[in-house]
Amino acid sequence: MTDYLNKHSMHSRTCGELTVGQVGESVTLTGWISHRRDHGGLIFIDLRDREGITQCVFDPDACDSATFTEGERIRPEWVVLVRGTVRPRPEGTVNPNMATGEVEVLISSVQVLNSAKTPPFAIEDGIETDELTRLRWRYLDIRRPEVLGALKLRSAVTAALHSSLNARGFIEVETPILGRSTPEGARDFIVPSRLSTGKFYALPQSPQLFKQLLMVGGIERYYQIARCFRDEDLRADRQPEFTQLDLEMSFVRESDITDLMEEVLAEVLSQVGVELALPLPRMSYAESMARFGNDRPDVRFGLELVDLSAIVADCGFKVFSAAVESGGVVKAINAKGAGDLSRGEIDKITAVATTHGAKGMAWIAFTSAGEAKSPIIKFFSDETFAAIKQAMDVEPGDLVLFGADDFETVSAVLSAVRLYVADLLKVERTGHSFMWVVDFPMFKYDDEEKRFAANHHPFTRIKDEDLDLIESDPLACGSYSYDLVMDGYEVGGGTLRIHDTELQMRVLRQLGLSDEQAQEQFGFLLEALSFGAPPHGGIALGLDRLIMLLGGFESIRDVIAFPKTSSGGDPMTGAPDVVDARQLRDVGIRLH
Ligand code: AMO
Ligand code: AMP
Repeated sequence: MTDYLNKHSMHSRTCGELTVGQVGESVTLTGWISHRRDHGGLIFIDLRDREGITQCVFDPDACDSATFTEGERIRPEWVVLVRGTVRPRPEGTVNPNMATGEVEVLISSVQVLNSAKTPPFAIEDGIETDELTRLRWRYLDIRRPEVLGALKLRSAVTAALHSSLNARGFIEVETPILGRSTPEGARDFIVPSRLSTGKFYALPQSPQLFKQLLMVGGIERYYQIARCFRDEDLRADRQPEFTQLDLEMSFVRESDITDLMEEVLAEVLSQVGVELALPLPRMSYAESMARFGNDRPDVRFGLELVDLSAIVADCGFKVFSAAVESGGVVKAINAKGAGDLSRGEIDKITAVATTHGAKGMAWIAFTSAGEAKSPIIKFFSDETFAAIKQAMDVEPGDLVLFGADDFETVSAVLSAVRLYVADLLKVERTGHSFMWVVDFPMFKYDDEEKRFAANHHPFTRIKDEDLDLIESDPLACGSYSYDLVMDGYEVGGGTLRIHDTELQMRVLRQLGLSDEQAQEQFGFLLEALSFGAPPHGGIALGLDRLIMLLGGFESIRDVIAFPKTSSGGDPMTGAPDVVDARQLRDVGIRLH
């Protein structure tokens, strides 16, 4: 790598490559002053570039006085070019923590390429500076090895993806950014049109429809590293613009796509030092929901959900029996090792439960002294209590946490509690786990909108055996669908697609669209399907999430060069910002 870097460059070596092998070599280095130490008579500088840091020495006996005077003048973050000779560091000054720690460069001349203001934070790893400040001066932040490292990792992963997909016959195609609203379920970012005043483009939430049209176009295997835009509430793993590895394939079955994706993933990850055992495990959506309460389980630890509905259906505790009676469930997790938590700590777990929709959180603590403490034991018969203990595999030192409500609420509550408790108990989660979650239901019922919605998107193919149920029992319709889950995050998702117009119309009708609305919104797709669309399907990986997890980062902001804050702004450029009245007039917009 560094050979290439030294060609077509002002420097003959980078700041990360000198070892005893180069002792005696005359070198030219360029970079930023990381540290400068004046040792009365000798001046040491640590010169930093993207490859590392090299110690360089101004010695008045080895350079002229003008050079030495420059050495006295330069300051941190100044940009310099130094020439000198590599020599071993004197005994006792070798730094084993530095790649270049055995040598230093004795400076013969220096050229200041630029001076610099004092940076607002230290340019080094492990700083405590708040993120807003770092993002305000992101270009300085990027000089820090840990940020630079994230960008390098990202580049290595995308390069490997390109070569892996090219080797499998994929054609890279770019699709429009200015387009029509795409139905991934989030809010669109819209762009006013000047040429058609009063009309708007929507930025793509994904290239979904275009990639399907490419299949109709006979491309057979498409991919793109695609930027996607979704106006949704932001979280650590969500940005308003993010990047997908997007791909689509024709003449394939579901297993062709998932098998190929696994192979590509294994190839790519091995390039960044992560070995993947294939085939990846698969779990049905139903099983994932039952055992973990969500569709992206972190399976690196237990604390699984246990269904106690049958045991407590007729018990004396009203909250439980009423939940079962009204068609809901009672489930629990056993937080092993939490039996001696204080009331205050249990209250905090309860708060997690209630923010996820629980009306309360019943619990039973089994202290390590062998006592059972709980406000609800008194409601249980001895048999029920024994059955609960057996089902939950209780030992002294355990804490059983209950959820009683409809299935969705209990799942949301206990899956959040499970993760919270795992953090609290510092449950070990080492290494990476990859798996497929498959067989998602085609539809879900949207309580707010009072209509059916597509679980993935409306172009997903329904299981052949369920085609008769679309109108009569939509919630029972399965789909050819698969999500890639890594360490408890959804890092990818895809489906086989509907490739005939009539079936696509039936699904759109079931989603509440009239034939006219369907034509208006998706007429171009419906028409394309009628011109000989091949069977096809695909997947998109959330590249930011994948890199975040691979690099062990906390947020996808850490792996994006210029991310937005959680309120959607860029503290460096000030975007979003007002525009001048003239620009608004041009596109026919008046602000109130
Ligand atoms: P989906 O909507 O599941 O599928 O998106 C695919 C993957 O993109 C990532 N992702 C995000 N990453 C960061 N910020 C966001 N706001 C964000 N939203 C999604 C996730 C997710 O798994 N067109 C379909 C794919 C297909 O069917 O082929 C699609 O976009 O990791
Ligand atoms: P209550 O009888 O309402 O005082 O509740 C007794 C216990 O049950 C308290 O610990 C509550 O937090 C808990 N509880 C109440 N509603 C639920 C629920 N839907 N699921 C689980 N626990 C609950």
